[in-house]
Amino acid sequence: MNSNARQRFVDALHRRNTGLPPVWFMRQAGRYHSHYQELKKRHSFMELCKQPKLAAEVTYGPMEAFGFDAAILFSDLLFPLEAMGMGLDYLPGPRLDWHLRRSEDLKRLKGGADLASRMDFQAEALRLIRAHYPDKGLIGFVGAPLTLYFYAVEGSHQGDVSSAIAGLTDGRFEGFTARLVDLLAENMCLQAEAGPDAIALFDTCGGELSPEQYARHAVPALELVLKKFRARYPLMPLIYYSRGTDAAHWLALDGLPIQCMGVDWRHDLSQVVREWGGKYSIQGNLDPEWLRDLKWPELEARARSVWEPLKALGPEARKGWVCALGHGVLQQTPEENVRNLVRLSREVFR
Ligand code: CP3
Repeated sequence: MNSNARQRFVDALHRRNTGLPPVWFMRQAGRYHSHYQELKKRHSFMELCKQPKLAAEVTYGPMEAFGFDAAILFSDLLFPLEAMGMGLDYLPGPRLDWHLRRSEDLKRLKGGADLASRMDFQAEALRLIRAHYPDKGLIGFVGAPLTLYFYAVEGSHQGDVSSAIAGLTDGRFEGFTARLVDLLAENMCLQAEAGPDAIALFDTCGGELSPEQYARHAVPALELVLKKFRARYPLMPLIYYSRGTDAAHWLALDGLPIQCMGVDWRHDLSQVVREWGGKYSIQGNLDPEWLRDLKWPELEARARSVWEPLKALGPEARKGWVCALGHGVLQQTPEENVRNLVRLSREVFR
């Protein structure tokens, strides 16, 4: 029987967790939470990310309030774009000074492993959190190449993404990833050095590509980053989250050194665990809109409708399951729903 939260999390990543499933939510620290709102009155989002003590403080908020098993570094995935020379601010949504609209713009883009030291504040925050929580899971993270590229081109992930799609074949994606790969792998290494239990890669834009485009463009770039990282950190578990993707996309990930797959809320969790749970740990996947919009009794019923069938598969089947959402906690989510849901996960799987 696993003894503490960290062990639960690590065991699940290795698909050998026989006790309670570990629980954490993407964006568990953020604008829905009063603790974060209080800190935001005194500090900008940039300060909260870049001053390690503050970043650690933000991270602790939801851990203390809701009892999650794993803490995630409080940061953002766009800092590599800033390091590459794109100019970044949050107002509060991310704003880049310029976008990768034409192939000529590649000239303005810096690259290389040396730039990763600009993300040292992430490693520093991870060290503080690790020292503070020796018995909790701890997750570092970066954006996957495709998702960073989408932000570089579009500045956001809303509306028309046709320019980003066009850039897959006009040299922009290739030029961008050529500059990014060493930087991103080194960014992951700097975080890994600070002692997390896993590093997550967020590929929120994955589903914008057809499975063919994804296999041809996104996966090779991801593979370059992961192989470089793996050469230095052969054992660090990697969590790969993508949104809007399905089995046809996931098949293209075959052979990549990924331990855990984060799936979005569109998928039947039990089915994913049955079909993919022999190969990966599975993380997910309640709909964040349920958490934001539903009163507790209705949310409880919906959560049970996802969790009870998983439970019915038996303890062997869920040895690799990480209890999580299918995306991040949304801004207007009531804290009570978060608190109740963490508690319910322990009740259902006790
Ligand atoms: O999970 C956590 O608690 C860690 C914190 C975290 C943030 N961003 C903090 C944040 C994580 C894991 C991220 C990842 C991230 N950032 C992703 C991938 C996951 C996802 O949500 O799809 C993406 C695409 C980004 C880029 C980004 N940063 C966006 C789209 C935004 C605006 C989001 C929004 O909710 O409006 C940000 C800003 C941001 N990142 C905030 C936070 C708490 C809000 C800043 C504020 O106004 O206080």
